[in-house]
Amino acid sequence: MSNENQFDVVVIGGGPGGYIAAIRAAQLGFKTACIDAWSNAAGKPAPGGTCTNVGCIPSKALLQSSEHFEHAGHAFAEHGINVSGLELNLPQMLKRKDTIVKQNNDGILFLFKKNKVSFFHGLGSFGGKADEGYTINVTGPTTATLTAKNVIVATGSNARQLPGAEFDEKLILSNEGALAIEAVPGKLGVIGAGVIGLEMGSVWRRVGADVTVLEGLPTFLGAVDEQIAKEAHKLFTKQGLKINLGCKIGAITKGENNVSVAYADSTGAEQTATFDRLIISIGRVPNTNGLNGEAVGLQLDERGFVVVDDECRTSLPGVWAVGDVVRGPMLAHKAEEEGVAVAERIAGQHGHVNFNTIPWVIYTSPEIAWVGKTEQQLKAEGVAYKAGTFPFMANGRARALGDTSGMVKFLADATTDEILGVHIVGPVASELISEAVVAMEFKASSEDIARICHAHPSLSEAVKEAALAVDKRSLNF
Ligand code: FAD
Ligand code: NAI
Repeated sequence: MSNENQFDVVVIGGGPGGYIAAIRAAQLGFKTACIDAWSNAAGKPAPGGTCTNVGCIPSKALLQSSEHFEHAGHAFAEHGINVSGLELNLPQMLKRKDTIVKQNNDGILFLFKKNKVSFFHGLGSFGGKADEGYTINVTGPTTATLTAKNVIVATGSNARQLPGAEFDEKLILSNEGALAIEAVPGKLGVIGAGVIGLEMGSVWRRVGADVTVLEGLPTFLGAVDEQIAKEAHKLFTKQGLKINLGCKIGAITKGENNVSVAYADSTGAEQTATFDRLIISIGRVPNTNGLNGEAVGLQLDERGFVVVDDECRTSLPGVWAVGDVVRGPMLAHKAEEEGVAVAERIAGQHGHVNFNTIPWVIYTSPEIAWVGKTEQQLKAEGVAYKAGTFPFMANGRARALGDTSGMVKFLADATTDEILGVHIVGPVASELISEAVVAMEFKASSEDIARICHAHPSLSEAVKEAALAVDKRSLNF
């Protein structure tokens, strides 16, 4: 083997977990390679994983475009802007999304060059143990044999299949097909009212589809603070999303141009709904396809996740795993944090990921964002807490924006006043939540936030006011 292909660190998978781990490892002085199998339509490398290609980035591009369309059609008039002849140019909307994806792919390739990470386009698989670690074979567009002292597995996840309803990406769509429907479906069905169901359901509703969501559980967004979830349910329903909870899905039958879904509704009554397209978004499963972990005895759990300890060490010395392929929330920023921490641990440093302060965001309109504990979790854990809420209705900037839906909610320890959770449903919640994350990371109290000067007029004043409300001293409500 040529010395050229001997590495200190080989990362398998170039999604947010893998490419960030590779960059950090290279920054720390390791000779690093990253292998990624994703190809674009032209067969060229498309690093960035699910997030860049069929996840975070394209979904946010379509959410933005469809929101502009909705505003032009329904919100501009109130601002005194009359629009006539408004038309949807869906091919352009999809093309813009594809351009943004490609910019991100190319950006990652540039970052690899800048940081001297060797990139291999192909499938990486364990060959076996080598003197100095492991042999990794690359097959696909590139063929190579690498050796590495340290291997970071970052192979991500795939959409979970519903038995009897294989994804064909034409009528029955995973996230991939849901991001590329070539004509607005008249009737769109969505199975699963989770993050993807609500985000993609919102995109297609805004551009004209009649969207029905069928959710198995009797509660809406069970992981979200109940008060926030209730408010969101009310707002989404008002927008026209038909959300049916407590559905038991039966047979799914494909016609030539449509799909029928038989289900029992929450009362137990048998129903059949026929859709032009059906998105199935019922969670994701870890991906270790083609990794050949058996060659080295890489341990998986019963659900297929790579088994790791709290610090992302697998059962094998020198082999680590990060991101969607291991336990914990399937979020790009969680994958990135783990990637950085692992590279630092390999360097003998004390990489750290605080699972208590990982923010969640659902990019609907209004957005839903939270960090820390929900009220129902605190109750279940018997923690004494105080709550404070503040509605965007009473925020001047929200009124000026014309988006006054939702609220900010603080939960703080009843004795120490330490912030235990912050929950937002409202405009730009994705950005507002950062203040709460920083505050919680520094173990701030709600009084700390209440005493900090926030710019006026800004949405962030609603965060300050909710913190004030914990002590029942909101000034503007
Ligand atoms: P992935 O991004 O899945 O990357 C894994 C990469 O490894 C892929 O490129 C794959 O081709 C490659 N690979 C797999 N096996 C091999 C192999 N053997 N050899 C070589 N390469 C291999 N998260 C957020 O935080 N915010 C969002 O807004 C958000 N939106 C989303 C929207 C959608 C529609 C979806 C589906 C997901 C979204 N997510 C979001 C989740 C986010 O995409 C994932 O949590 C994140 O991509 C996980 O990163 P990862 O690096 O672990 O895996
Ligand atoms: P999800 O876990 O968010 O939601 C799945 C929903 O499907 C749940 O409400 C579940 O109860 C329901 N469900 C499961 N089985 C069902 C069945 N048989 N019939 C009816 N309903 C059923 O999963 P989703 O939406 O597929 O997204 C996967 C993951 O991707 C998310 O959990 C998240 O980690 C990530 N993601 C993150 C985003 C973000 O951060 N903004 C955006 C999109 C995805």
